[in-house]
Amino acid sequence: MEQNSAEREMLAENRQGEALVLEGSGTGKKLFVESYGCQMNFSDSEIVASILQKEGYETTTNAEEADLVLLNTCSIREKAEQTVRNRLDQLNTLKQTKPELKIGVLGCMAERVKEKFFEEEKLVDLVVGPDAYRDLPNLLEELDGGRKAVNVILSKEETYHDIEPVRLGGNGVTAFVSITRGCDNMCTFCVVPFTRGRERSRNPQTIVEECTQLWKVGYKEVTLLGQNVDSYLWYGGGLKKDFSKASPMAQATAVHFADLLHMVAEAVPQMRIRFSTSNPQDMKDEVLHAIAAHKNICKYIHLPVQSGSSRILKEMNRGHNREEYLALIDRIKTIIPGCGISHDLITGFPTETEDEHAETLSLMDYVKYDFGYMFFYSERPNTYAARKMEDNIPLEVKKRRLNEIIQKQQVHSAEKNAAYVGQTLEVLVEGRSKRSADDLYGRSTYNTVVVFPKENYQPGEMVMVEIERSTAATLIGKAKGYAS
Ligand code: SAH
Ligand code: F3S
Repeated sequence: MEQNSAEREMLAENRQGEALVLEGSGTGKKLFVESYGCQMNFSDSEIVASILQKEGYETTTNAEEADLVLLNTCSIREKAEQTVRNRLDQLNTLKQTKPELKIGVLGCMAERVKEKFFEEEKLVDLVVGPDAYRDLPNLLEELDGGRKAVNVILSKEETYHDIEPVRLGGNGVTAFVSITRGCDNMCTFCVVPFTRGRERSRNPQTIVEECTQLWKVGYKEVTLLGQNVDSYLWYGGGLKKDFSKASPMAQATAVHFADLLHMVAEAVPQMRIRFSTSNPQDMKDEVLHAIAAHKNICKYIHLPVQSGSSRILKEMNRGHNREEYLALIDRIKTIIPGCGISHDLITGFPTETEDEHAETLSLMDYVKYDFGYMFFYSERPNTYAARKMEDNIPLEVKKRRLNEIIQKQQVHSAEKNAAYVGQTLEVLVEGRSKRSADDLYGRSTYNTVVVFPKENYQPGEMVMVEIERSTAATLIGKAKGYAS
């Protein structure tokens, strides 16, 4: 299936999270929250909605009736920030007709731009970084009297572990559960360590409790979220870097990511479990064995590679080279036969040669990913690459290389999907198909989207679907009954 650039962008921004509007109930003042960027931002907006619900804020899907508009923003690429600036322009027009409206910026861009937002002639009243959401009630009070308020302090401990997110705007079937915050990896292109701070893990007990609670109220799938889930580590609250100094007892009883997967899989044995994102350098075989051991852990791994060239990977400070990555792919394919695998890739990183780009294409040929999220390099202020490397690949070269990897991925996605034709897959129904009210859509364990005529099936049900045809993006089939 030929994908135009708008569709591709949508796909990419879906992975990075489409703009999502939350809806909820309550009384009093009205809050409108819009999330941009990664799944973590979407999840954070649910935490923010929970904090503000206690302050009497009712959420609305209509910005025009809101007293407070919050944009939960993304800084990952320049374009993501431009989208937010454009949205702020629109909101400023709204504010001209409604001067009492308060506008706040949350998330990564708040952290990056800080109080400079107030100087940019944009009518932003409030700037709150990802670790400061508990302070929102105080900050809102500061706004009374027309002042501005800002809190962009990053924390080494904050995990919002005790806040029960308000599940809003979702499908009632799948939910996100945050397990780590921040990232210590310092990939040279990436702004996340600067905007989200040090990596920290959430108390496993509260993760298990949240998943159990979600199951009780009818959710059927959870995605455990973190920038780098494989380095999850809990040993009584310490930071990862201090682990070697922890007592032998603390080290022996520590909970690693594989342990957490076992704990969650056993606590909610009927619940489907996914996780994102895995980092190749931290993914242990224990994690692969945990995925293989539990029927309810989905057979799907999102494993960003970024480049197929070991020299570029080194320049990116990725912590893995081409051979190590491919060896991990081999182990995944052996330990979890049929496992769905997807990637993130960046083209046009500084100094990338045509030969190195060709190595990326050949790595893709080796792995044959089910799908991927592909970007051209975008220099981000303050990152190592921005400080020390010249962004020297011309835009048209970056775009041509990007196009080549997208074309290749299209071929692979179409091939991978075609191989499912004739098979019967277990599909968790998530909702009505966007294209046809007579069809339902859901996902297989491999994360492939499956569409089928709805008959009497309902969202939340696990249905066996025989696959009849495929495109590069979707499998189309017919229901054969409920999964046992
Ligand atoms: N570990 C994170 C990665 C966040 S960024 C996660 O949870 O997914 C998501 C993807 O954006 C990265 O894997 C990378 O492919 C891309 N990306 C990050 N910084 C970028 C930049 N400066 N230019 C282009 N793409 C970038
Ligand atoms: Fe960014 Fe690398 Fe962490 S891509 S989020 S620094 S693993």
